[in-house]
Amino acid sequence: MATGLIEPCLYRDPAHHAQELHGLFRQSWVFAGLLLELQGLAHQVVRIANTEVLLQCDRSGKPRAFLNVCAHRHAQLCSPGKHEGAVRCPYHGWVYDREGVPVGIPGKQAFPEVVAQPEQYRLAEFNCEAVGQFVFVRLASAGPGLRDWLGTQYEFLERASLGMSGITDEFRKSVDANWKVVIENSLEGYHVPAVHSTTFMQVDGMSREEAAPVFFLGDPRHSHLEHPANADWVASFARMERKIGRWPWRFEHYTHRLIFPNLTVTSFMGYSFHIQRFDPTAPELTTVHSRTTGVKFEGGTEMGRKMMERIYADGQAFTDKVFGEDSGICAKVQAGLRNAQRLAVLGEGIEDRVRHFQRAYVAATK
Ligand code: FES
Ligand SMILES: [Fe+2]
Repeated sequence: MATGLIEPCLYRDPAHHAQELHGLFRQSWVFAGLLLELQGLAHQVVRIANTEVLLQCDRSGKPRAFLNVCAHRHAQLCSPGKHEGAVRCPYHGWVYDREGVPVGIPGKQAFPEVVAQPEQYRLAEFNCEAVGQFVFVRLASAGPGLRDWLGTQYEFLERASLGMSGITDEFRKSVDANWKVVIENSLEGYHVPAVHSTTFMQVDGMSREEAAPVFFLGDPRHSHLEHPANADWVASFARMERKIGRWPWRFEHYTHRLIFPNLTVTSFMGYSFHIQRFDPTAPELTTVHSRTTGVKFEGGTEMGRKMMERIYADGQAFTDKVFGEDSGICAKVQAGLRNAQRLAVLGEGIEDRVRHFQRAYVAATK
């Protein structure tokens, strides 16, 4: 048993929140979206720290991240969310190409310098790199490369992307709590009996005979767990496999990963991946952007396809219910934090991933 490492005021103080955006979120590689969402002329605007970032792939297929501000007179180029077609400013209609260069200028005779050297007027750009399907952006110009930043999670994300076929479900919801409360809640199973008595405690395919899940805390920033799947569940899957077909990365456990600071990826047996981004919208408000992705199956039957559809749909209903339960309890934690004065108490073993996150947070905000 030990005390927590983050003072309660740091979960509610607006000045600290602003510092966090500047010091932590600008310096980190932050997950921004999936490559499969940026195919063709698709582009999207996401908010990272206090900055709106326009994501699109260039002509070589590489994802790029631009400041969402027109080079002409600073209009917001695109509204947050997903868009199709070329990027066109809503104010005077400047059109930008895939490399962020203004290539279509109405009344161009008034802008001879822009027409002569359009690259000089390209959109401001940030570091942007992908591992598999996962696109990350770092706003700060200097810092570690993505591979160094991700450590062993790099390989996980690469493998998780194998055969990723598309988004089967997506939502954005807000939680009335500081983003660290929501992350910390996702890092421990200690609350499961009290908060999820009708969901996780009933049927989730996880082994109850096994000892506690195995934690991996070797990386200074990220952590993950693996929880063996229930043997009967694996056996029933094996029986269905002739119908369902094979998928690229099959494992026999549940895994939950925190990719510091604000991305979690979870999967059960590798047949789908649940990807959640926890945006620090305000000191006491977190926006959760959640995507579930499916994978391609090989050698399955039509009946197998229907079975998987059913498994995905059940998984969705389960995820929604669990999300509601977690979001409710996080709001209660935040309500307590408004009056809290002493440091939290962290249990040994069961809350080790919370402590690991807090250490990483303290190191990153020094
Ligand atoms: S501000 Fe964008 S075209 Fe004028
Ligand atoms: Fe929970």
